[in-house]
Amino acid sequence: MILRILLAALSILLGMWLRRRREHFRYFHYLGVPGPEPNLIFGNLLEIYLKNSLWAVNDWHRKFGPVVGLFYGKNPVLLVSDPIILKKVFNDDRNFTNRSPHFNFPGVPNSVACLSGDDWRQLRTLLSKHYTEEGICRFSPEVKNCVDELLKVVKKQSAKGSREFDISAIYDAFALDTICRTTCGLAYDIQSDQRNRLLGFINKMKPPFGLRDLFRTSLPQLNLIFEGVRRKVLALMHGSVRKTSPLQEMHEDCSKRVKMLRSSKKPAGNDLLTVMLAEGYEVTDKQAIDNSVLNVLAGYDTTSGALSFITNMLIRYSEVQDRLRTELQEAFPGGSEVTPQKLKECRYLDAVIRETLRMYAPVYMYTSRTSENPVQIGDLYIQEGLTVMASTREMHYTEELYPEPERFNPDRFLVDDLSQFDDIWIPFGAGPRHCLGKNLAMLAVKFVLAKMVLTYKLDTFEYLPQSRVELQANPGLLKLKTGLRCRASPV
Ligand code: HEM
Repeated sequence: MILRILLAALSILLGMWLRRRREHFRYFHYLGVPGPEPNLIFGNLLEIYLKNSLWAVNDWHRKFGPVVGLFYGKNPVLLVSDPIILKKVFNDDRNFTNRSPHFNFPGVPNSVACLSGDDWRQLRTLLSKHYTEEGICRFSPEVKNCVDELLKVVKKQSAKGSREFDISAIYDAFALDTICRTTCGLAYDIQSDQRNRLLGFINKMKPPFGLRDLFRTSLPQLNLIFEGVRRKVLALMHGSVRKTSPLQEMHEDCSKRVKMLRSSKKPAGNDLLTVMLAEGYEVTDKQAIDNSVLNVLAGYDTTSGALSFITNMLIRYSEVQDRLRTELQEAFPGGSEVTPQKLKECRYLDAVIRETLRMYAPVYMYTSRTSENPVQIGDLYIQEGLTVMASTREMHYTEELYPEPERFNPDRFLVDDLSQFDDIWIPFGAGPRHCLGKNLAMLAVKFVLAKMVLTYKLDTFEYLPQSRVELQANPGLLKLKTGLRCRASPV
């Protein structure tokens, strides 16, 4: 009897849940926004899981146009590739300041990426001055040291004869080393130790979008239960001994540095932590630590991915590599020192980077804002609380904006006024909340490419047409699926 009552109650609850969910999924229908039919449990994540986000997004835009209403699990998201709408949204700091927590970094709630409203404005203003083109000059000696180490590793590899090696793994170590040193002031010898624990741990943090992510994002309530059970099992297995991850250890190292910097009268160092704390204690300890860890999470695989994509293009288009080498040899005659100031003058280098990031933007499903008020943009009505996501890759491949978009053509960025690309070239996001580390990333990428191309001719044994380059896409990050085999012969 009790069992029957329980079953009846459960069926009623399930029925109510299904009705509410079905009603919820009619959201875009009521707003008159076209989009794919959501699955009752997974929203539109099932397609992302089955096809991968890159091709799912591509298909949706083919079918429904530049504005698509979709459900990321239960969360409605307006996926937009129209540059006029995007410009209005991303530059509207009054109505669209915040990023949705569903598309943000876990574990760093006090960081600039996760804060909202005035808290974000305050911290962003404070941090921005250290990331201007002038501000990052203080990091350049450390970037240069890291590039020198990278060249030593490449030299070792290339000295092994004509064998190929995976340059993307070398870039991974370089990027993590550079960010740890410039942001946190932590030198972990990551480049000399390719089996470094932190490197291995962070590499596992963004696997392809799997079954677990599908359930976790679609049914967060279920996830809470599973997490609770998982923790209990782990506690039983490990008893009172809690294992700390390399990332937690890094968090703790930052914490120790903050304490040390707070107590020291004349803190030495040119990293962001030192600079932040030296300036009249404007930030809280938690903000300083969370921001350092965030920069590692936000800047590591993006910078490394960008380097791999660009090197891939230089290998594939040897005429571009030769032209770039000629420009660099003219800028740095007789092996003269590579400096940030001189790098700024290398316009072809800049164009090659821009064109590669147009075609292969490492971050293509993160640039988003959630509306704080209802907003009307032309025919489009955006309700309060709705997330607008820039369809970065789709916009970068729009024929009207970039003629022959499939063609790798750095020359399209060799124009006198680059500001014409401000709202349509968005690998670093858009508007006042664009990537904080853009200038640092560009400096590191330029430094590496200049030194590599001046020292080595880069090629590969097996020529692969561009269309066969395999990509791995999880919604957060685009990368080369199997790394990048490369041969480096001295110039
Ligand atoms: C090629 C390398 C990189 C790419 C492609 C990239 C891309 C992006 C994108 C697309 C966003 C979102 C912007 C938006 O919502 O409008 C972002 C945000 C951010 N990035 Fe990067 N990033 C790179 C490197 C870095 C580095 C090296 C750092 C730090 C040292 C960094 C720190 C940040 C931070 C802190 C934010 C959040 C900013 C805020 O919310 O105010 N990024 N990045």
